[in-house]
Amino acid sequence: MKITILQGSARKRGNTARVLSWIEDELVSMRHEVETIYLNSKNLHGCMGCAKCKEKPDVIGCVQKDDVPEILEKMIQSQVVIFSSPLYFWGLTAQIKAVIDRTYSLYTNYHQPGHASLIKGQRQALLVTGAGPYENNAEGVFAAFGRMQNPHMAINAGELYIGSCTTPDQLNDSVQQKAIEFARKIVA
Ligand SMILES: Cc1cc2nc3c(=O)[nH]c(=O)nc-3n(C[C@H](O)[C@H](O)[C@H](O)COP(=O)(O)O)c2cc1C
Repeated sequence: MKITILQGSARKRGNTARVLSWIEDELVSMRHEVETIYLNSKNLHGCMGCAKCKEKPDVIGCVQKDDVPEILEKMIQSQVVIFSSPLYFWGLTAQIKAVIDRTYSLYTNYHQPGHASLIKGQRQALLVTGAGPYENNAEGVFAAFGRMQNPHMAINAGELYIGSCTTPDQLNDSVQQKAIEFARKIVA
């Protein structure tokens, strides 16, 4: 399968990157085609809510000329997309949130007859790392992620939260095992 990883952490050698490296290694060992997009190096703007994209339902109709349309194109061509981010103020980073909001341009007629999506049937997964526990901390991002598949007409293929993170070298074998199991699950 073609798999795109959206790396939402600015830290190239941080906790999210370390967990992603285990996920990517496992996916590559299963002979999947994996591309990681490091969002922090991209020119990303937030959705303007202009709804111009809704006038062109068959293409990416976003009028903004930054790096996001190319990222959305890669998403459309992927059978699996892994969204990943550190937990920032009980949410996702600004970098990945900008891309998620711009996926508004990938579907049309949500909640109406004729609902269609350029990423219909896509398997989507979410990896989040955080310093705190899941409870009273990380639930919100997973709840929002679980709703996103509705307008996208996508499939929630897996969710992984790695809490109590300090430094990447402290991420142990049990975290690595969870990463490997997550990788296997999202393509199953
Ligand atoms: C601006 C900022 C906000 C954060 N907010 C939270 C939070 O709400 N909950 C939490 O558990 N950790 C929070 N953290 C800790 C990070 O989520 C955690 O250290 C994460 O593993 C960092 O990932 P990275 O190394 O990939 O950047 C925050 C860190 C920063 C810098």
